[in-house]
Order: sequence, then structure tokens, then C-alpha cells
Amino acid sequence: GKTILLTGVASGIGARTAELAGQMGAEVIGVDVREPMGGSAAFIKGDLSTASGVAEIVAQLPVRLDALANVAGLSGSTGIASTLAVNFYGLRALSEAVAPRLREGGAVVNVASIAGYGWRANLERAKSLTAIDGFPEVAAVVAEHGLKDEEGYPLSKELLLLWTMRAAHQALFKNHGIRVNAVSPGPVETPILKQFRAVLGDARVDSDITRVGRAGTAADIAPAVLFLCSDGARWINGANLAVDGGLEASINAEVL
Ligand code: NAI
Repeated sequence: GKTILLTGVASGIGARTAELAGQMGAEVIGVDVREPMGGSAAFIKGDLSTASGVAEIVAQLPVRLDALANVAGLSGSTGIASTLAVNFYGLRALSEAVAPRLREGGAVVNVASIAGYGWRANLERAKSLTAIDGFPEVAAVVAEHGLKDEEGYPLSKELLLLWTMRAAHQALFKNHGIRVNAVSPGPVETPILKQFRAVLGDARVDSDITRVGRAGTAADIAPAVLFLCSDGARWINGANLAVDGGLEASINAEVL
């Protein structure tokens, strides 16, 4: 069987992805800052928002893994520093630390968001923020770049989408045959959606949902994450898979 390290296992998309992976015969090592309900077979309680938290997680991992699914994320409602830390710098630090344990042909899958599609319009900002090595003092980065709280969530996903493409071509992953891909959900019915509603307003969220008929569910996203983890995706690298019911297509093609 395959062994998948999966962050954000305690809730929403991560919980459903872990459940599906188990049904498909994989062993899941779940990571979360909160305890999962019902308890997963192998669970590491850990905090991805700090360098020491990531190091404590890594210290508890087995030497060999098949895939890393980076699902954990914050909505931005706790402020930009924590959001950039969990959604990007902590995710990247974990991925870089886990890379040497991933087998040849293994995979990293990052749950990004349609909220990150501004990466190209904001490319220079994304390049300079991803060029910062290691796990920086995020509050200092925020101050230095004059970043605002409300930018935190979309910015974190812009950085993640840019880094996904770059990591696919980075020696640490590429030279070991490790693929790096992203999944970008549209609005999905999980606890984080309530926080998006509070930040963005109901009208914005509901108009996205109306375009495609319904919100997604965690069960709509989980198979895409596991596909990109699998050997069936062996020729997919540095890609972003939109799992949004057609939302992005409707916006790009200007279909109302
Ligand atoms: P959720 O809020 O249900 O789950 C997020 C999980 O991440 C929680 O279990 C939480 O405890 C964990 N987490 C938060 N901070 C952490 C930390 N410091 N260390 C370790 N774990 C931490 O939300 P959901 O929907 O399952 O989100 C999963 C991913 O999907 C996130 O990256 C989110 O940005 C992304 N996403 C979700 C969408 C939605 O509408 N639900 C839309 C687009 C992307």
C-alpha cells in the first residue's frame, strides 16, 4: 500500500480526502493543529504556522512516503501573517523537508484556490515573496512589503500557485522524480466557507455558487487530490487542476 502524508486532516476537504484514501487502501498519516473527530489511524498534532512547529512534525515522520497532500489552510480571518505562514511558508517548509523521504515517482499536491489566479497579474510581488528562502519571520515580511490583512488569503494562494510551477522544476523534487501539482477548488461547503462569507460578503460567494448551480462538497475535491497523488498522474507536473464545477471556465469565457 501507499503512504500519504496529509495536512488539514481534522476538517473539510482534508478529512474527506483521508477517508477516501483509506477506502482505496492507502495508509494516511494525518497532520492538523486540531484533533480529528473520531481519530484517524495515524495522527500527528502539529502547527504549520511556525518553523519549530513544522520541524516537530517532520521529526515524527517515517523515512519513506509516497505522497504529500498539503490541504491545511486558513481563511485570512486570523490576519495576514498567520495566513501566509500556514497557506504558503509552512506548506513549503514542510514540502521541502519531506522531499527527501518521498520515493522516486512520488508526488506533492497543494490545495490552492481559484482565489489565487491573480498570480500572473501580480507576478513581480509573487516572485519576490516566493524568493524568500526558508521559513521567514512572516510578520516582518508583511511589514516590509506593506501587505494588508485583506490581501492575505488570495496572496497566499498566488504564492502557492507560482511555487507549485517552480517546485516542479526545482532539483529537490525534479531530480528525484517527484511531481508537484495543485488543485484549485471553487466554493466548497466546509467550515472555512463561513469565514469567506464573513470576509467577502454573502453576495460575492453566492454569485459564484449561482454560476455553477451549487457549492462543491469535500467529496467533490478529494478524488482530484488523490488522482494527482497517484501513479496515474505520472505525466502531470507543475499543473493546476480547477475543481470548481466550471466556475473558472464561466468567468474566462465570459459566460454568465
Ligand atoms: P477547513 O477549515 O474545514 O479545514 C482546514 C484545516 O486546516 C482545519 O482542520 C484546520 O485545523 C487546519 N489548519 C489550520 N491551521 C493549521 C495549522 N497552523 N497547522 C495545521 N493545520 C492547520 O477548510 P477546507 O475547506 O477543508 O480547506 C482545505 C483547503 O482548501 C484550504 O487550503 C483552503 O484554503 C482550500 N480551499 C477551500 C475552499 C472552500 O470553499 N472550502 C475553496 C478553495 C480552497
